[in-house]
Amino acid sequence: MRALSVAIDGGVAVVTFDLPGEPVNKFSPAVIADFVAVFDQLERDASVTGAVLISGKPDTFVAGADIDQFLAFTSAADAARASGDGHALMRRLEQGRVPWVAAINGACLGGGLEASLACAYRIAGDSPKTVLALPEVQLGLIPGAGGTQRLPRTVGLQVALDMILTGKNVRAKKALQSGLVDEMVHPNILRETAIQRARELGAGTIARKRDRKAGLLENNPVGRSVVFRKAREMTMKKSRGHYPALLAALDAVAAGYHGTAAEGFATEARLFGEMAFTAVSKQLIFLFYATTSLKKDTGVSGAVAPASPATIGKIGVLGTGFMGAGIAAVSATQGISVRFKDTTHAQVAKGMGAVRDVLKDRLTKKQVTRQQYADQLSLVSGTVDYTGFSNVPLLIEAVFEDLTVKHAVLRDVEAVLPPGAIVATNTSTIPIHRVAEASRDASRVIGLHFFSPVHKMPLLEVIVTPRTAPDVIATAVAFGRKLGKTVIVVNDAPGFYVNRILVPYLNEAGTLLDEGARIDAIDTAMLDYGFPVGPVTLLDEVGLDVAGKSGATMAAAFGRRLSPSATLSTVLSEGRLGRKGKKGFYLYDDTGKKGGVDESVYASTPTGSARVDVSAAEIQERLSLLMVNEAVRCVEEGILRAPRDGDIGAVFGIGFPPFRGGPLRVVDTIGAAELVRRLEALDARFPGRYEPAALLRDMATTGATFYPQTGKPV
Ligand code: NAI
Repeated sequence: MRALSVAIDGGVAVVTFDLPGEPVNKFSPAVIADFVAVFDQLERDASVTGAVLISGKPDTFVAGADIDQFLAFTSAADAARASGDGHALMRRLEQGRVPWVAAINGACLGGGLEASLACAYRIAGDSPKTVLALPEVQLGLIPGAGGTQRLPRTVGLQVALDMILTGKNVRAKKALQSGLVDEMVHPNILRETAIQRARELGAGTIARKRDRKAGLLENNPVGRSVVFRKAREMTMKKSRGHYPALLAALDAVAAGYHGTAAEGFATEARLFGEMAFTAVSKQLIFLFYATTSLKKDTGVSGAVAPASPATIGKIGVLGTGFMGAGIAAVSATQGISVRFKDTTHAQVAKGMGAVRDVLKDRLTKKQVTRQQYADQLSLVSGTVDYTGFSNVPLLIEAVFEDLTVKHAVLRDVEAVLPPGAIVATNTSTIPIHRVAEASRDASRVIGLHFFSPVHKMPLLEVIVTPRTAPDVIATAVAFGRKLGKTVIVVNDAPGFYVNRILVPYLNEAGTLLDEGARIDAIDTAMLDYGFPVGPVTLLDEVGLDVAGKSGATMAAAFGRRLSPSATLSTVLSEGRLGRKGKKGFYLYDDTGKKGGVDESVYASTPTGSARVDVSAAEIQERLSLLMVNEAVRCVEEGILRAPRDGDIGAVFGIGFPPFRGGPLRVVDTIGAAELVRRLEALDARFPGRYEPAALLRDMATTGATFYPQTGKPV
């Protein structure tokens, strides 16, 4: 394999990185060997005075290291050695005979950014595709090719820590402001400019930038120790100690300030090695592979010929309420035109206002230009009749959660829609086959379960019935992906997948309240487990009426195992709706801002205001294992097409702690036999709720796991 090609342009070597057969450039041992060969060639060729590193891929400079190689590490020392190899490579870029210029257009991530930092000069192409980041912590790792050492020296400690600890993308303009790149040019002149700068560096007419962009605080050891202490406190608060790579990254950066440069690099290599062998990085790397494999999944299993998706340029949305507006706005951001209908002009105007708010927010955050904002807004047109629906290939229904209403609108709209149009429902609780009963053609009906707020929540749950046609599924999946969503396809059943596992979890929080547990004890325990919000807070957020309704649907379908708590029913009957009614389990001020626990709510629980202490461990065990057991049932009943979708759905739909990988990964971590034992112990205390799933018992007997225990996880 030759990933690099060299062309000499007036004494400057233009080295083009274009990994054969791959959509993006990645570093691997073979690529490193190619670089070494190029370095050797340039060392010998005295006619070359400078070099440019540029990508042959349209959207990527370098996406980082090839993650497959991380799976092959056999020990922390082995991984640390690989980091050392990366250091040696970057050192040659930095200290070789000729100065290097990085010509960056497209994604410049991880090892790609580390290589750029080792170059004498960096130029970014001024394009929305150009983003620079060190995303290693998102895989439970730390930058291992010098990033923790060179980045602070280039952009200063505070900017560097922000990038390293969040992994967030920095756009070209911001990169120029912080000194992460030295120059920004139009992509059309990137190559020429880079060659020119390489020539100037070689001739000594411009110099390498070596000055460190340091903020006032970090210029001295005392100031720096304040920055480090604050960063450590913030990290501990945010991560609750679950993500060791964050602290390791801080240690590696700090080592670069305390000792010699060599010690800094050695610390980075050692900690990179240690992090590569944490349970956390194993789960985060699994999630990376799982999302990557989902992106390639058409959503259609077992079809003889794979169905090809239709491209959707226009949609119709029925219901301009909360969800309809969110769906319309997100579609407009992707250049899809939206015909947007409700029953009254006032409702349509309200919906249009909500669409504008979402789009405007992107303008305020400078994610789009004023022109783009105006263009996107003009894609959405409102109506109170069915004009403009006759050329809509995909309709999304988001009217009231009432089967009679849904049936009525379906009949009306299908009289206007073109033949073969796809009819999607955003229902959260009604089985899709029931909605489809009113359709002229059930094979065109599908569920598109968006989560609220639509523009923020990353998951889309696509629900198919036995009658949904393969091309409808493929089109719905491709549409969801176009909206930027992570899409899972599940089979039709009460609660689908996400609510099916969420409802028992929330019920159990209610049952704990019935027993006298404190609201803050429950929420804190689950925050400590790793959820982004506690279950009682979540009930308030979702709305107690909505939670009550889906709880009732699930109880009707599954009986006692999923029956709602007494507390939830009582509290709801007293008119508490949660945040939207400014009255729930927590206190809210007039603006809707959440305060502390509303202690008066305890009087509505079966135990009255008397409270008992329930340990965090017990709360965590009871809530998490109910969710895990229910997820296993979803595999057993064929609601999930693969365990992968169950884990992705839980992490992206509910915020299941990513470092645990997802509920089915938890089964593999704990082991089915041990899990059965723990569930049986709980079932003895709470008969009927914790009966282990049959599949779990089978797995306990055979020793099976959901995922391969070595090699690629999915
Ligand atoms: P909403 O009450 O905010 O909006 C419903 C809209 O439908 C209203 O504007 C109403 O005027 C309109 N509508 C009623 N009958 C209509 C008709 N015949 N023709 C056109 N429009 C009509 O409700 P929301 O929250 O947006 O929910 C809509 C759907 O989305 C429901 O099926 C709900 O279960 C589902 N959903 C809601 C989620 C949430 O968090 N709110 C999450 C996921 C799904």
